[in-house]
Amino acid sequence: MFDLTGKVALVTGAGQHVGLAIARDLARQGAAVAINDIVADRAKSAAEDLAREGGRAIAAPADATDLEAVKESVRRIESELGPVDILVSNAGNSGATRAVPTAFVEMDPKDWSQYVDINFYAVLNGIHAVLPGMCERRHGRIITISSDAGRQGINMGMSIYSGGKAGALGFQRSLACEVGKHQVTVNAVSLGMIPGDWDPGTPKAIPLGRFGVPEDVGPAVVFLASDEASWITGQILSVNGGVYRNV
Ligand SMILES: NC(=O)c1ccc[n+]([C@@H]2O[C@H](COP(=O)([O-])OP(=O)(O)OC[C@H]3O[C@@H](n4cnc5c(N)ncnc54)[C@H](O)[C@@H]3O)[C@@H](O)[C@H]2O)c1
Repeated sequence: MFDLTGKVALVTGAGQHVGLAIARDLARQGAAVAINDIVADRAKSAAEDLAREGGRAIAAPADATDLEAVKESVRRIESELGPVDILVSNAGNSGATRAVPTAFVEMDPKDWSQYVDINFYAVLNGIHAVLPGMCERRHGRIITISSDAGRQGINMGMSIYSGGKAGALGFQRSLACEVGKHQVTVNAVSLGMIPGDWDPGTPKAIPLGRFGVPEDVGPAVVFLASDEASWITGQILSVNGGVYRNV
């Protein structure tokens, strides 16, 4: 089950942390994986790591918020690996620069796009680049890495991030309806907190009693990417330690 041999996957923002763990699990299941990241060295060393571990991976550095760059990168991936069967839009958060949590009322409108571009437009860009081929071939898996912050209010000075994530979720619900007839599925994985190099405090409200780790995410993506998930579309799969979300 969940064999991805012969499939080609593109994972955005896969140079580190959650994206890298997703790429690693896709490669372990047999997919050839293109590692996108805006930081070229990160993409390169991630691809080298996966290749050393026995997977097939190439670096595909590009700015996911730049549609032309994404289209050019997909052309190159397709010439090296073949048509993209699985797109995982993982690049997110605050994009290339670190987030500065700020209350909306205090935020400069010129900073809004930092969150909207990466969490919403980058998702559109990747899908726009691969969807025509998927529809033509009558097979495709579109998977977006979202956040519980796009489904429920959080009081962390990240309201535009929440808006970007929620926008992508709303978009995919309708996209799933549009492309189902082409046997392309469109789903999201909604994450709870998966700390990186920051202190998240204590996991008070998480039923399973711990924060996530990047390795929690790959198996969910592998499942949605597999042939076995061919009758699942338009869904949001929570990977968050059991916190209930009603959206
Ligand atoms: N870590 C969490 O707690 C958490 C919680 C909920 C949702 N998420 C979501 O999971 C995803 C991964 O999060 P993470 O914590 O691993 O992020 P991260 O910041 O550790 O890694 C993101 C990667 O994306 C790359 N990137 C940034 N801007 C890019 C761009 N314009 N084009 C291409 N690559 C770009 C970065 O260089 C980096 O390597 C994001 O969509 C995030 O919103 C994370």
